[in-house]
Order: sequence, then C-alpha cells, then structure tokens
Amino acid sequence: MFRRTVESTAATISLVVDGNEVRARAGESLAAALLAEGLLSFRRSAVSGVPRGPWCLMGACFECLVTIDGARQRACMIRAVDGMHIETGEGRRRLLP
Ligand code: FES
Repeated sequence: MFRRTVESTAATISLVVDGNEVRARAGESLAAALLAEGLLSFRRSAVSGVPRGPWCLMGACFECLVTIDGARQRACMIRAVDGMHIETGEGRRRLLP
C-alpha cells in the first residue's frame, strides 16, 4: 500500500497528469508521486489491454512508461519537477464514465 506517508520537509510541487493538477513532493520520483495519488495503472498492455503499472521501481521492467513533456520515459527513473506535464496511457479511460 502506498498511502502511508512520512514527515517531510520537502517543498510541495505541482504536476499536470492527464490534464489534472497533482501535488507532489520535490525530489521524489514521478512513479512515487503518481502512486501516492492512487494512480496504479500507467498504461495498457498492447497485446491484452490489461492495466500495467510500476513493478520494479528501479528502471528494469519498463512497466511505468508515461509520456513526460512529449517523450516516453520510465516514471520510476525521473524526478518529479514542478510544472511537469505527464500523460499516462490511462488518461482517456479516466475521463470515461
Ligand atoms: S517500475 Fe520498472 S522500470 Fe519503472
């Protein structure tokens, strides 16, 4: 479970994820920031369409691919930066009822 938080003196930053503002802590990985927001699926399998999300959190599995400011990258290997724009493969699905 990724809901447990610890005290931090890190500054709060703002990200835009699938068009929605998301708060994060400066210095944390983008994958950690998205998981803390409850976003568990970052994309869909091209073969089966099943949801995919971070698994290894160390850059090996590529399950955390998102589009960051126009480039596909592993969210677990990128630090969250204020003003960053992220598109997941789930963005359009989240907008559907
Ligand atoms: S979670 Fe495995 S590469 Fe990011």
